[in-house]
Amino acid sequence: MTATLVPGVTPPAPGGAVRAVVGGKTVAIFNVAGTLRAIDARCTHVGGPLDQGTVNAGVVTCPLHGSQFELATGAVRRGPAARPVTSYPVRIENGHLVVDLP
Ligand code: FES
Repeated sequence: MTATLVPGVTPPAPGGAVRAVVGGKTVAIFNVAGTLRAIDARCTHVGGPLDQGTVNAGVVTCPLHGSQFELATGAVRRGPAARPVTSYPVRIENGHLVVDLP
């Protein structure tokens, strides 16, 4: 894992999400009741923007066709997506978002 600073992106407020490019990957970062979660921003179905999805109980629903992914693990909860998204450890250090990339 490589700790990578996310420059110029304000950490999301509780209930919010942001999209950021980190080390060449486009990542969606969510704040779930004060806990940060980061997953690939593109749905594995046909690339829907997961940062624009709705979050309920730690699960994001893709705004295009309704696939659901667990924010903590990236696992598929509901199709049509068949493959998980990658999840990444994320935290705040000195006021900046830091994502651990593989
Ligand atoms: S692009 Fe996400 S469910 Fe189709």
